[in-house]
Amino acid sequence: MEFPGALLESLRRAQRVAVLTGAGISQESGLRTFRDSQSGIWAKYRPEDLASPEGFRRNPQMVWDWYAWRRLAVEGVRPNAGHYALVQMALHFADFTLITQNVDGLHAAAGTRAPIELHGNIRHVRCSECAARAEHWDESEKQVPRCALCGGLLRPDVVWFGEPLPRAELERALRASTECQVFFSIGTSAIVQPAASLPYAARRTGAIVVEINAESTPLTGAAAFSLRGKSGEVLPALVKALWQ
Ligand code: OAD
Repeated sequence: MEFPGALLESLRRAQRVAVLTGAGISQESGLRTFRDSQSGIWAKYRPEDLASPEGFRRNPQMVWDWYAWRRLAVEGVRPNAGHYALVQMALHFADFTLITQNVDGLHAAAGTRAPIELHGNIRHVRCSECAARAEHWDESEKQVPRCALCGGLLRPDVVWFGEPLPRAELERALRASTECQVFFSIGTSAIVQPAASLPYAARRTGAIVVEINAESTPLTGAAAFSLRGKSGEVLPALVKALWQ
């Protein structure tokens, strides 16, 4: 795989790098992305029915069951070459921040230290009333499990449409984006805000924006370099081209 010389040069000089990932980086681990028109997670449902506070109020059982199914899918998968290449990459920069929209926990499983999980983590569950984190719940129950403290319905500890992102995580992500010299957008359709605004914030403050995606996205035209391909192939090849 050939990479533009100017990109390799910029990366060899860079000290501060930020990376934003989306569902595409987990696709090669066997997880579905959201917007694939054939097999995507939203293919059969409307996002607002399954991933919103209103959807949960309307039909908590359906929402709980959908996340239980996704939790099961996540438990059975391992990080792939793309996740591991980012762990390698981090070793070469003084400052490396990984920001993810993914709730699958695969970056941490691969060994990335303290990834910023902007949309939460699907393995965690909290009370929809008192917000207390639940450590144990009965997945086999036919009904949505309830909070041991207040009796409220339990829900996944993820960010739904219409909900604010965790403030500390968003602030850290924005700081890393505006302070980095190179910003990667990897495997994300780059349309869900506020994550989608991070590459533009990085570009405004002088960073070189690099996109790695199997297809073009609304960000493609604004990126300095757009690498078309699977992240599980492009990222290891990039690490090899840079440092081996
Ligand atoms: P999407 O499903 O919107 O986009 C996945 C992107 O990954 C697409 O642009 C694909 O072209 C690309 N892609 C697929 N396979 C790839 C591969 N092997 N290598 C590289 N790229 C690949 O997923 P996200 O952008 O993550 O939010 O979606 C963002 C947010 O929208 C999600 O966090 C979720 C969703 O609705 C909530 O649930 C709140």
